[in-house]
Amino acid sequence: MINIKINDIVADAYETITKAKDKRIIDDLSLKYLGKKSKLSKMICELVNYALPERKVIAIAINKAKNDIKNLLQQKKQEFSKAYYHNQKCVDQIDCSSSSLYFPFKMGSLHPVVTTMESIVYIFQHLGFSIFEGNDIETDWYNFEALNIPKNHPARDTQDTFYLNKDKTTLLRTHTSPAQIHIMETHTPPIKIVVPGRVYRNETQDVSHSSTFHQVEGLVVNEYVTFADLKTIVKEFVFKFFKRELKIRFRPSYFQFTEPSAEVDIQCYLCQNNKIDCKICKNSGWIEILGCGMVHPNVFKSVKYDNNLYRGYAFGIGVERLAMVKHNIEDIRLFYANELAFLQQF
Ligand code: PHE
Repeated sequence: MINIKINDIVADAYETITKAKDKRIIDDLSLKYLGKKSKLSKMICELVNYALPERKVIAIAINKAKNDIKNLLQQKKQEFSKAYYHNQKCVDQIDCSSSSLYFPFKMGSLHPVVTTMESIVYIFQHLGFSIFEGNDIETDWYNFEALNIPKNHPARDTQDTFYLNKDKTTLLRTHTSPAQIHIMETHTPPIKIVVPGRVYRNETQDVSHSSTFHQVEGLVVNEYVTFADLKTIVKEFVFKFFKRELKIRFRPSYFQFTEPSAEVDIQCYLCQNNKIDCKICKNSGWIEILGCGMVHPNVFKSVKYDNNLYRGYAFGIGVERLAMVKHNIEDIRLFYANELAFLQQF
């Protein structure tokens, strides 16, 4: 009779334990079948009611049942641990960089203006420049005055400005050069920075003009800085960007905040100076890529730098211009038209 009872308990334990879904349930079942209040434990207490030979047999049967249940619980616990470990291992082994053949979506790509800007900045970083961020919204002082462009100066007309208020004190920056003032106001030389950013000009859009475009400004200030240093950096940049030796020319130019000033042209690498119906260089054989020069003494005055102590050079690179040259794009407006057919080429 008692043996039947023990067998029933073991059968019931087997059924519930094998069905258990997690480790916590196993712990509960362990209490239920082997704990102090379990049926088997109660039976042990009741053993005194049996005569000795019978008591011994029952005790052996109860112990065997307890051991069987214990083993089963142990086995089940191990299974859960293994599964957990296996899952963990799977998580650890996921290679986030591997692509799936079955990935149902087409991957997007970065915009050519972004990749061009990134590669320009990357090159300068490797030439020892730090990255600095300017502001899209500027005051008249930073965009013009401090850069030696006084009020009512005709030079302001060349940079058609989007003003943000009636008295024309705040505006959308027309170039990244105001960042020169911010960095010099807050740092003492040596300075060696590039400032990537978006600029705005209120001008009619055409194949080579857009009201929004991007520049990367460069500024180097130290005790001994020469135009030769500027030339070296520009040459190095052009070589690294186009990955080949291109002819460069420094054409004398005029910017209010640099003296002397120059614009840099590279040999047209599409027509290789053959000038035969070339849309990129418009048959001139040269493509302008940046404006540059030695920092004007009045700019140093604006930021209270000692003109007898410091020299500097600055440059401003047109990002769209470089992207157009690199990818053979003839119309700047394509960058902003959001046409999938155009964007999917990159
Ligand atoms: N800020 C000038 C422009 O937008 C470019 C420039 C930058 C020229 C720095 C000289 C030095 O045209």
